[in-house]
Amino acid sequence: MNETAPNLLVRDLTEVATAVGREAPLRGADLGSIEVVEDAYVLCRDGRIDAVGRMRDLSAIDGDVEELDGSGLCAIPGLVDCHTHLCFAGDRVAEFALRAAGATYEELHAAGGGILSTVRATRAAGAEELRAAVERHRGWMRRSGTTTFEGKSGYGLDHDTELAQLEAVRAAGGVPTWLGAHALPPEFDDRDAYVDFLIGDVLPEAARIAEAADVFLERGAFDAEQSRRYLEACGAAGLTLRLHGDQFTESGAIPLALELGARSVDHLEATGADGIRALAASDVTGVLLPASALFLDRPMPPARALVDAGAAIALATDFNPGSAFCESLPLVCSLACTQLHLAPEEALSACTVNAAHVLGRADRLGRIAPGFQADFALLDVTDWRHLAYHLGGDLVHTVVERGSAVWTRHAA
Ligand code: NIG
Ligand code: FE
Repeated sequence: MNETAPNLLVRDLTEVATAVGREAPLRGADLGSIEVVEDAYVLCRDGRIDAVGRMRDLSAIDGDVEELDGSGLCAIPGLVDCHTHLCFAGDRVAEFALRAAGATYEELHAAGGGILSTVRATRAAGAEELRAAVERHRGWMRRSGTTTFEGKSGYGLDHDTELAQLEAVRAAGGVPTWLGAHALPPEFDDRDAYVDFLIGDVLPEAARIAEAADVFLERGAFDAEQSRRYLEACGAAGLTLRLHGDQFTESGAIPLALELGARSVDHLEATGADGIRALAASDVTGVLLPASALFLDRPMPPARALVDAGAAIALATDFNPGSAFCESLPLVCSLACTQLHLAPEEALSACTVNAAHVLGRADRLGRIAPGFQADFALLDVTDWRHLAYHLGGDLVHTVVERGSAVWTRHAA
């Protein structure tokens, strides 16, 4: 036992809300099964949750324990953001203004802007600047209640910058995903040759840092055949497989994800009835990114139909400078309820338990239950459902990671 690990008792909480049971991913009616304990405590030892229950059942505690007053607050599991592109330099505010004036995301991309403009800025930044950018962005996420984040590369598109991005995500405690196949860099004019380069020159080292590989399977990016070749090589190198698919067009991402046994297929704004059926009958999780659909003024993904058909879904921000400059999972929960027609309970499971499943960590993250890592957010509300109800609300009061308060909002 680690003598220096913190022991923490959060007492007198108005509510503790967490998914029922230990299963993951949750599907169908189980997605909305949230247990709420009122007038509750959470006891953490050695960075893990030791006990959760009603205050009236709290027995005497052995040893030194720091206490935190939870009165007037609700605890939810630390939010898990399983799809972000937080490692980038520069911004795309000028492009945002052009889009406001009518230019589309795909037009800007085709004209050499979009992802490629962030690639130019990211290549020009050194490793130190990239690490600082990840720290800054993860700080924003943490203040919104996110305790675990994934971070993709994909703004380097060359050997050194791709690896520097993955290192920066790992150094900040994030889960790195290699998105080498994000766009065609300017020094290549052939997508197949670029995929050869990724597999031959970058994959051997990327596979030592990253946990997963991802590809942008889309018109104007990589087609199904190029994506298959890239993902098969990544799978053979031991990486978990993920895809950006059906964002603008159905280009074969779901069949490919099923064929390769991918962990997730993400976006799905353009998914139709066949895709919904196929995904529901599979072990692939659909990661829905409503902030991205909103930011680009695109159709929302068919979340309700996916859940009702029995598909496993997760919610994430897609935080990035182009299609979703949004770090807030509480805002994503609001969009899930207002735009995707999910219940607050379903939204909470989708960005805790199911998102932890996408990151291969559902055995220890995403629930407030004995044995789980003591990661949770205290909300300054007396009904936890304000998480989704308060659109853009500033409701995170304190963030606890591994049993220590790592951020507390200053009193107004
Ligand atoms: O998930 N669609 C591809 N990639 C990102 C956007 C990246 C960017 O615009 O910088 C996404 O939306
Ligand atoms: Fe994305």
